[in-house]
Amino acid sequence: MRNLKDIFERNRQWAGEINRDQPDFFNRLAEKQKPAYLWIGCSDSRVPATTLCGFDPGDVFVHRNVANIVAHTDFNCLSVIQYAVEVLEVKHIIVCGHYGCGGVKAAMDNLELGLIDNWLRNIQDIINQYRVRLDSVVDPIRRFEALCELNVLVQVLNVSRTTVVGRAWTNGGELSVHGWIYGIDDGCLVDLDICVTGIGELEQVENISLKGIFSRTRIRKKPQEKMC
Ligand code: CO
Repeated sequence: MRNLKDIFERNRQWAGEINRDQPDFFNRLAEKQKPAYLWIGCSDSRVPATTLCGFDPGDVFVHRNVANIVAHTDFNCLSVIQYAVEVLEVKHIIVCGHYGCGGVKAAMDNLELGLIDNWLRNIQDIINQYRVRLDSVVDPIRRFEALCELNVLVQVLNVSRTTVVGRAWTNGGELSVHGWIYGIDDGCLVDLDICVTGIGELEQVENISLKGIFSRTRIRKKPQEKMC
């Protein structure tokens, strides 16, 4: 099982099709990348940033980790943000969570899964910070949805408070930080109407978004009901 042959076969087919349709495509990409977006999302195999947005190679710079967390001590994530903003000059940073996130659920249920428990402490910090509001959601399914949405909001605020993004705004840079969420059961991307374009907007965005998250009822009333 050393060779995963089928993957290489699919790759040749994929590259061949692109070469046939756009003979210049890979040559152009090889010269430079100029993506307009940075995507910060979950590592979940069901949330493939490029595919679900209908993007091509070159369209989006991507950082993924379990539960799409932006921690101020994570030099991996901070380096991605710095490179994207200062070198690639992306104009939009998208934090995209997803409903049914296993990382968020594990934190909510206090599961013991090993090393990852330490990473998920970031989510438990959110639970502790917003415990009163979360406890006020009676429906457990909606509470889980709300925590997935709340995690997006907190990570948008964390991105907005990084030194890199702060510096970009101070220098008059045009940069927006967006909060979206994705439904793994229907393939639909939802705009949570969380958008920050300057440091002065943080408090208002947090207050309005919290109101939105905790006034919504369950997104899916029946399993077959679709969001888009
Ligand atoms: Co997830």
